[in-house]
Amino acid sequence: MKTVLKRIAYVSALMSILTAPASAQSLLWKEVAPGVWKAEAGIPEKQSLLTASGARPAIEALGKMKPLPFPLNEKEITAGVVDGETYIKFPLIRNEQIFGFGLNFKSVHQRGKILTLHVDHYGGTDNGRTHAPVPFYVSDRGYGVFINSARYIRVWAGTAVNKERQDPSAVRDRNTDKRWTSAPYSDAVEILVPAAGCEIYVFSGPTALDAVRRFNLFCGGGPLPPRWGLGFTQRVPTLYTAEKVIEEAKEFREHNFPLDFIGLEPGWQSKAYPCSFEWDRTRYPDPVGFVNTMNEMGIRLNLWTNPYVSPESPVYGRILPHTATHTVWGGVVPDFSIKDACDIFTGQLKQSQVSIGVAGYKLDEIDGYDKWLWPDVAKFPSGNSAEQMRQTYGLLLQRITAEMFRESDRRTWGLTRASNGGGVSFPYVIYNDYYSHEDFITALINSGFSGVLWTPEVRSSKTGEEWLRRFQTVVFSPMAMINAWASGTKPWSFPEVENEIRYYALLRIQLMPYFYSEFAKYHFEGTPPFRGMALEPGFRSGTQQEVKNTNLNDNPYAEAITREIKDQYMAGEYLLVAPLFTGQTSRSVVLPEGNWYDFYTGKYAGNGEVITVAPESGRIPVFVKDGGIIPMMPPALHAPAAGQKFDLEIRYYGKKPGKYMLYDDDGISFDYEKGNYSWREITVVPGRDGKPAGTLSKAVRGKPDNIGKVEWKYMSTFRDW
Ligand code: GAL
Repeated sequence: MKTVLKRIAYVSALMSILTAPASAQSLLWKEVAPGVWKAEAGIPEKQSLLTASGARPAIEALGKMKPLPFPLNEKEITAGVVDGETYIKFPLIRNEQIFGFGLNFKSVHQRGKILTLHVDHYGGTDNGRTHAPVPFYVSDRGYGVFINSARYIRVWAGTAVNKERQDPSAVRDRNTDKRWTSAPYSDAVEILVPAAGCEIYVFSGPTALDAVRRFNLFCGGGPLPPRWGLGFTQRVPTLYTAEKVIEEAKEFREHNFPLDFIGLEPGWQSKAYPCSFEWDRTRYPDPVGFVNTMNEMGIRLNLWTNPYVSPESPVYGRILPHTATHTVWGGVVPDFSIKDACDIFTGQLKQSQVSIGVAGYKLDEIDGYDKWLWPDVAKFPSGNSAEQMRQTYGLLLQRITAEMFRESDRRTWGLTRASNGGGVSFPYVIYNDYYSHEDFITALINSGFSGVLWTPEVRSSKTGEEWLRRFQTVVFSPMAMINAWASGTKPWSFPEVENEIRYYALLRIQLMPYFYSEFAKYHFEGTPPFRGMALEPGFRSGTQQEVKNTNLNDNPYAEAITREIKDQYMAGEYLLVAPLFTGQTSRSVVLPEGNWYDFYTGKYAGNGEVITVAPESGRIPVFVKDGGIIPMMPPALHAPAAGQKFDLEIRYYGKKPGKYMLYDDDGISFDYEKGNYSWREITVVPGRDGKPAGTLSKAVRGKPDNIGKVEWKYMSTFRDW
């Protein structure tokens, strides 16, 4: 018997040598920041996602997280270079779920996917081609993996089955065995990087949310928007004139609709597609006067542009030597990995727009489609390949434009159609032309796994109902925007829902102290402000046991949490948003463990269960976690200006003692980087009379203090105290 076993062991050892890729080996892991490990496979290329983004780890913030050992078995991670390409293998165990790989629109669970991560305009299939195909995934076992390569990375996310594998599933006969499956169990994420090396990073947890936080902090932490960036924004039709824009801004005031910034579409430029980066003097004869008038009305300007340089642009001659071999719509393509190209480009933007008070940009057409952009055979003067440029163009353009505003000590809040891993801290929100409301919500969920921000923008609608449903979700997103570039739709275009629309537009402003604090947590702690349920404590972790022991068919909650939840999400620490889509009057909502309360009424809604809600018409279902504290300000038409005090209405929900950290700073400059900010603690505890009692800690001496009067609103009933 012994010799037989020995022989089997010998044969299987020999088999594994013969079947493993020639150079597959375990990696040498080095802890490069608290809870973050790096290994090199082959020889990493100079141009990577991290070099393009220039991301710098927030070491101090990472240091505040719990130290943990390497989260996986090192021996189970292998990599090797074969034929100039890097093969990487990470283990998976049964029932493990993974999330991420960038801005997907249709799916949240990524186990079982085959993807080619390729920057592109999203084309309707989750195949890896998207606006931010971030090569980062996070596991519900509480670790994350990032591949730092600016290549078209291929991923088999738990689909391929190795001959040598852990926990193999039985081989079955399809003819006779009903349990036969076309997708036998795979125990690995396998990754092919088409380059002879790359860096690999592993992030520890302990939870999936912690792994995401470490990834975000490693990339510098999230951006802190100016307060006005969290206000409301309207984008006007392409050929609007200065007069029309001013008129529209006045209409907002007359209709009592908030407005913090207006976006001008291609027609502000004298030539567009390709671009001149100059004002069109027929439509905007006096740019300085125009920008001043808008600013005096409390409204900032955001300008659309793509980066392709028209022969009629004043910078064409100077930038030409620093451009690619191929053109886009007849415009030359600057190589933004060359400093001179960046300086010439941003020099024009600064001189013509930023210096006169323009507040931000919308960076368009830097994602795809293939037939529009440069082909992969194009050459760039820096020597970076067309592929690397495609994967990093969004990062590079965000980086240099963000830098312009930083130089003038003004925060910006803009839009981009492309980003990638490493772009966490850029003050840009991704958008696209795809316009599926349901899929826009799934994208919002996925943005939170990948260190990017996404807006489910509203453009046009067939009915007032659709208008309202879309509008409600944009209010609970990183940018509350109507993009009316083609439709000219205004918030009040559907009179039958005008009041509801106004209510939500003003609610957006009221929630500003909450959302601003949530963005500060993204910046300082790495916590994504908008994220999927899988990152919510109490959603999965506390319930796995139950899932195992229950007949799923008898327990809708157990079944629900193993399902992909892609139509409800968390907005900040305490709010759970469950959008309704056109045609729906009710929906089911999966409430994680713990008590949840209705946002509008404070009424108890449920605990660790699937509920069906049929809200009062005109409302989007929103729930608050037990102990939830939501600091709100009075409705207003604009975000508070720097130094302007605002009153607080602090809402409290549930019956658990609550705590909330309220962030404050000047709201516009980079002074917070010099420590000029404050966190104030809000607490609610049972008072002596059995009623809740709230306290707000004192303003911090010598730090910005914008809080005026405070009013407490205890939303729930407190019989249970
Ligand atoms: C599209 C963009 C739209 C709008 C339009 C203007 O590429 O996605 O949001 O800006 O260009 O031409």
